[in-house]
Amino acid sequence: MDKIIVLDFGSQYSHLICRRIREDNVFCELLPYDSPASVIMKLDPKGIILSGGPSSVYSPNSPKPDNEIFHSGIPILGICYGHQLLVNEFKGKVKRTSQKEYGYADLVIDDSSDLFRGVGKKIKCWMSHADAASYIPSGFEVLGHTKSSASAAIANKRKKFYGIQFHPEVAHTENGNKILKNFSRYISKARPEWTMENFVKSSIGGIRSLVKDEKVLCAASGGIDSTTLAVLLHRAVGENLTCIFVDNGLLRKDEAKLVPEILRDKLGLNLICVDSQEQFLRRLRGVKDPEMKRKIVGEEFAKVFMKVTKRQGPFQWLAQGTLYPDIIESGVSKGPAAVIKTHHNVGGLPKWLNMKVLEPFKNLYKDEVRKIAGLLNIPNQFLMRHPFPGPGLAVRIIGEVTEEKIRIARHASSIVEEELRNKGWHDKVWQAYAAVGDDHAVGVLGDERVYGYLVTVRVVESLDAMTADWSRLPYELLQSISNRITNEVEGVTWVTYAISSKPPSTIEPQ
Ligand code: XMP
Repeated sequence: MDKIIVLDFGSQYSHLICRRIREDNVFCELLPYDSPASVIMKLDPKGIILSGGPSSVYSPNSPKPDNEIFHSGIPILGICYGHQLLVNEFKGKVKRTSQKEYGYADLVIDDSSDLFRGVGKKIKCWMSHADAASYIPSGFEVLGHTKSSASAAIANKRKKFYGIQFHPEVAHTENGNKILKNFSRYISKARPEWTMENFVKSSIGGIRSLVKDEKVLCAASGGIDSTTLAVLLHRAVGENLTCIFVDNGLLRKDEAKLVPEILRDKLGLNLICVDSQEQFLRRLRGVKDPEMKRKIVGEEFAKVFMKVTKRQGPFQWLAQGTLYPDIIESGVSKGPAAVIKTHHNVGGLPKWLNMKVLEPFKNLYKDEVRKIAGLLNIPNQFLMRHPFPGPGLAVRIIGEVTEEKIRIARHASSIVEEELRNKGWHDKVWQAYAAVGDDHAVGVLGDERVYGYLVTVRVVESLDAMTADWSRLPYELLQSISNRITNEVEGVTWVTYAISSKPPSTIEPQ
């Protein structure tokens, strides 16, 4: 399949470039900035994009790509820092400008023959830089300029190298999608072969030829990713698939009843249910560190899988609904992105679990999985469920996981979801829950002083969980959530609402 590669120099927008190109049905993959040219060439990309990043090209240790890519004949688009890399590589000059540009700028298009075809004469573009090209390399020409940047867009058309100082991937840049499309479709000539219909077809074939007639155990949490995966696997390997649903004591309210109903009764999957509440909660006792909690949950899952394989196996494969953002945030992509959280299904599986791992969704974003779910006729009511993290309530409980805090987080979260559903907000938001920590605050119940828990409600909007913003819920809705939590959840005296976005916060508190 034709593809574009994005080399990640650490910009917070690198992912967005990938997403925008995929939205136009061209496959696009993010690779670490220092990937060897041999690795890149093996992927046979039609075009390469150098992302933005926080460094300055003239700093001694600034990140640079493998220089061979410039001699490969593959079209290259440099964005922001990537633009400066091109200028630097071909002996132009980049220096710190006296006029930093952050935010909007008007880009005047001087040449609309290729990269800017059909975007208009002048567009608003989004800038975020302190360095700029002070003179451009020989062989390059100016395609566009802004008031303070005479060479905001440049190209060496013969070599198909393009550099733009602004960010076409952010929604603030007018016609940014068109600019990326001009690069991927027309300059790089990548064909739009990335559709979810194609993905379903090719992954069913791929799974069949990989698994042959071996047995697959699919870890199903009742979430949209693992459920979609289970249905896809069922199409691919039929009765060789068994799903396993583990009640780890950290599930949402009524989940232990609901999930088997959906998976077994509605979707017709072979399902083993295991009650391991005691085992998980025992291991988590006394543990406060968030990464340690994630590791423990991962390990306990692996132990349960192991036991089930011994008893009901053998299973040669363990299938998981790992997604692309899980891999990036867990830091295993080896890009400059820091480890944010070890997603239990990525970092937590120990080596002794002697099974081959099958992760057909590891290149997908969540909204792409939702599209697949639709194609596989997974019921709509199920499609609209909010994502729920693998380590469950353990990551919504700050500090030690105790039975009392589980009760509070579970009950308060169910109230948040219920209130949102009743007022028509549930399907408009990405996730909604209540977290609890060790903080207590004084309240009055009747005429009694009560020193109860403080609960934090978090409701966020997001497209792919890589970035998120808090939902501007109506005051009346916030009030009814707060009233119900303090009235119905024993031991809670205060309710707060989390109004930080991601970044700098994350969606789950742990
Ligand atoms: P954060 O908290 O990292 O969450 O902003 C991003 C999205 O991922 C979910 N999440 C997880 N999902 N295993 C999962 O399957 C995990 O370990 C995990 N941790 C977070 C989170 O609910 C949000 O949708």
